[in-house]
Amino acid sequence: MTDRYAVAGNPVAHSRSPEIHARFAAQTGQSLVYERLLCPLDGFAASIRRFAAEGGRGCNVTVPFKFEAHALAASLSPRAALAGAVNTLRFDAEGWFGDNTDGAGLVRDIEHNAARPLAGRRVLLLGAGGASAGVLGSLIAARPAELVIANRSVDKAQLLADSHRALAEQQGVGLAACALDHCGTAYDVLINGTSASLAGAGVPVAGAALAPGALALDMMYGPAARPFLDWARAQGAEARDGLGMLVEQAAEAFELWRGVRPHTAPVLADLRTEVDALP
Ligand code: ATR
Repeated sequence: MTDRYAVAGNPVAHSRSPEIHARFAAQTGQSLVYERLLCPLDGFAASIRRFAAEGGRGCNVTVPFKFEAHALAASLSPRAALAGAVNTLRFDAEGWFGDNTDGAGLVRDIEHNAARPLAGRRVLLLGAGGASAGVLGSLIAARPAELVIANRSVDKAQLLADSHRALAEQQGVGLAACALDHCGTAYDVLINGTSASLAGAGVPVAGAALAPGALALDMMYGPAARPFLDWARAQGAEARDGLGMLVEQAAEAFELWRGVRPHTAPVLADLRTEVDALP
């Protein structure tokens, strides 16, 4: 039986993961199929159990099930435990192993694809929801000098910072939480992890947050990211969407499942062409 993998979520119709993993499989000569698994909102666990019983070897987990996947996993990687969320499950004989590859994917995209090493830099992370929680540990591990979480609800930013305080101290990273209108100025890297653009709201921070020539990255991609990218360019920043992060987190998951690391650059280039052609 061919090994099966899937992206589990609700909705999943829009997911690019099947084409990314199909390209990784072709490139590395791995025999597998990768599907979309639409799970009822109250039926995530049952859907995954059925998939595993029918030949599933693992799955990616997307909105809104990353927290449920964390709760259901029999064991967790340290980074998934810290994030409190799982985006990759591997079905082992001992039970489900949960990992979170989002942060590693983001950091690799910034440091390798965008050629912006984070060590010693000043980084501003906008948002304190699931997207930010998923990447914070990896950002700290990249050892910026300063990492500030700015959020509309300051208490949520504070809670997120507190849950990562020990790691930040261990890594020598200055970690702080603040309001969007008190977040400081001239950051080298700004990462948007809010869903403000989905709500049709503008970029929730002032342009002064960016240093000249800063990198401004939105974790979203496609039409949802465009207002942020336009804003970033208008400030003179280098604008980057979340497509590279998407491909890099997928490569990390593929390696966890198959033990082989695919080349991401050709896959990202193809996907870039497709996404940029979207209306
Ligand atoms: P996700 O899983 O995508 O991170 P989430 O957990 O609901 O979704 O978090 C959404 C994030 O976007 C939060 O940080 C939210 O701010 P609050 O915590 O104050 O709600 C932020 N957000 C959503 N709409 C926003 C807006 N119009 N302006 C600023 N921040 C916004």
